[in-house]
Amino acid sequence: MAKRVLGIETSCDDTGVALYDSEQGLLAHALYSQIKTHQEYGGVVPELAARDHIRKVIPLVDAVLEQAGCSQSSVSAVAYTCGPGLAGALLAGSAVAKGLAFSWDVPAVGVHHMEGHMLAPMLEDNPPTFPFVALLVSGGHTLLAEVKGVGQYTILGQTLDDAVGEAFDKTAKILGLGYPGGPAIARTAEAGNAGRFKFPRPMIDRPGMDFSFSGLKTFALNTVERELLDQQTIADIAHAFQEAAVDTLVIKCKRALEHTNGHRLVVAGGVGANLHLREQLNAMMSKRKDDVFYPRIEFCTDNGAMIAYAGAQRLHQANSELEFQVKPRWSIEDLPPV
Ligand code: KG4
Ligand code: ZN
Repeated sequence: MAKRVLGIETSCDDTGVALYDSEQGLLAHALYSQIKTHQEYGGVVPELAARDHIRKVIPLVDAVLEQAGCSQSSVSAVAYTCGPGLAGALLAGSAVAKGLAFSWDVPAVGVHHMEGHMLAPMLEDNPPTFPFVALLVSGGHTLLAEVKGVGQYTILGQTLDDAVGEAFDKTAKILGLGYPGGPAIARTAEAGNAGRFKFPRPMIDRPGMDFSFSGLKTFALNTVERELLDQQTIADIAHAFQEAAVDTLVIKCKRALEHTNGHRLVVAGGVGANLHLREQLNAMMSKRKDDVFYPRIEFCTDNGAMIAYAGAQRLHQANSELEFQVKPRWSIEDLPPV
């Protein structure tokens, strides 16, 4: 029998809601971005994020049900992000999800945010099959994992310091480009000249698949202190930073595919929206005659659709208990296999 899952995402600064049907696929989705709330502070303010989620979740649920032309009574379960993420933001979404499930008399299931990201390409027309290597690149995480099935994740490498999205955000701040930094750097880099600045490619001389991105931010800071910051210089630095970050990711993906003898790569998380990264990965993968899979751009960054989909894969874990726990820190390796 078809199951219809309402997904609620509130781990950081985006409120995402979606309705996924196990037979018909994604029925509707809606997003409220808090960028304006946090912009003046240059980064996410956790308390403001939690308050905004509380204000926006229910109106988004109403909008999604209306968009899908579905009534509350057709929903079979509520999926919500219970970690990792900002504790207050997770609590806001989880409490609303549990409350809705209770009042609709359906079970609720807590979803791992990064599992949601990793499964997001499954919502596209040409979904990957298992096994694959996943590159998860967001504001809070940078990791490579071998994926043998839902819940069967082995971490091959991860960042030892900053996440790559964090490096984009911090470098953008240093260059005065504002928040969020990823899209701002990508836009600015388009006008940049290659070759004027050369950022290091961190950790590529060392074996293994771990990452380190904090050196890029320091290199950006040192460069900015040395140079006269006109518009062209800012664009040239953004260009050089993006090249270095992307090169590093591509090299480590290649290593992960070689290490696992893999032929499929899945790229997910906010930085997966970066077009330069996509170009370079496409080139590397087509040279290898291997396949690469991405979610559509809007499902790279946080969204409710990926949570509804991941929840639908874990309905056997759904329950009607009123108690719930959020997990601000939570490794994907601790998830049970499905
Ligand atoms: O997955 P996501 O929406 O939230 C987290 O789970 O962290 O990722 C947000 C991150 C931010 O660091 C943002 O700057 C980055 O993804 N990002 C990008 C791009 N779009 C978003 N980074 C590089 N290029 C982009 N086009
Ligand atoms: Zn995310």
